[in-house]
Amino acid sequence: MVATPCRHHCSRVGRGMSLTKEEAKALAQLDEVEALYKLGLTQREIAKKLGVASSTVWRRRDRGREIRERVGDVASEVAVPRELPSFERWDLPGEPTDDLGYDQLDDDVPIEDLINDRKERFKRLDGKKTRRHTRNVQVKLPGPVAITHFGDPHVDDDGCNWPELLRTVEVVSKTEGMFAGNIGDTTNNWVGRLQRLWGHQSTTVDEAIRLAHWLFHSVPWMYCVLGNHDKWNHGAQLLRYLTQGAKIAVFAENTARIELDFPKGDPLRVVARHDFKGSSIWNRAHGPLRESKLNPWGDIYISGHRHIWVSHHEEGTDGKPRWALIVRGFKAYDEYAETCGFYEHQHGESVTTILDPTHPSPMQRVQVVWDVEEAADILAWKRSKYGITSYSKRQR
Ligand SMILES: [Fe+2]
Ligand SMILES: [Fe+2]
Repeated sequence: MVATPCRHHCSRVGRGMSLTKEEAKALAQLDEVEALYKLGLTQREIAKKLGVASSTVWRRRDRGREIRERVGDVASEVAVPRELPSFERWDLPGEPTDDLGYDQLDDDVPIEDLINDRKERFKRLDGKKTRRHTRNVQVKLPGPVAITHFGDPHVDDDGCNWPELLRTVEVVSKTEGMFAGNIGDTTNNWVGRLQRLWGHQSTTVDEAIRLAHWLFHSVPWMYCVLGNHDKWNHGAQLLRYLTQGAKIAVFAENTARIELDFPKGDPLRVVARHDFKGSSIWNRAHGPLRESKLNPWGDIYISGHRHIWVSHHEEGTDGKPRWALIVRGFKAYDEYAETCGFYEHQHGESVTTILDPTHPSPMQRVQVVWDVEEAADILAWKRSKYGITSYSKRQR
């Protein structure tokens, strides 16, 4: 489209004749008067708008007409337009040009198939998440069993208490009905700027992997959850590889929610996580205790990570006794704690929960013991008298 030249933008320069300044001014004044007149204004209103007398309005009109008559159409014919350059407008209605428009979307797959595919994918993901949320474990062994929860092992750390770790592994592996739980941070697996700490330990990366592999294959694990150290450096994928073939009932990257179903008695539930949200210097059990109150599903809430130990037992508002536990782990002589001035707990490498699902007192269905050998003895005693004790004869 070509822009139309405007009359008011024209210079009245004639061919062989020219207007004087006064004549050009008179023609402009005529245009002005005629334009206002066309708008419906009276002579008086035009005069008022222009700030002149009424007689001046007609005088300007007559003078202008006289000049226009004299110069005729010549002026308009010879006017030199100040035209805007012509250009194509793509935003106006009409046929789009070839070089404009959008690329066609990829429509190889019909939209119905695309939606069905997304629907099925969501269902699979949803089912996976739900299955991960709670895991049921069928305990086939009749009578009480136990879980010895291994606190942060850090097997490759020079401060890992290997004598205690070996004792714990030996007792668990030899005791009938005793299972293990891994609360995470199996190795140091230093990452980022912490990689300089490899220089502070005498084990290599290869040795760390071998030690972790040994631990995973030494005892029957009820569960393994991952700690912050385990997740660094693609550690989660590495641990999945390392644990292939190991006896692990539940492997969870974050939280293991396990319902143990027994041949007799009510199920018992364990919620294990490397660390629960929240802490308090006045209540060391704050994290797992908080979780037990906000999500009162389990009987045992246990975590590690903080390298402290604590045990808390209380009844919930639903009348159910619950344990909130933090296990310190096997890493002693923690340089980080020493540097920062934290008090380093001296005990609590592991803790054993003895599960007696048919005990008549709910208070005694979970018993917490901090020494693994003593826990094994108690478990063996409980299992030996299972079904023959006086209270079991009466009530089981
Ligand atoms: Fe940790
Ligand atoms: Fe740790």
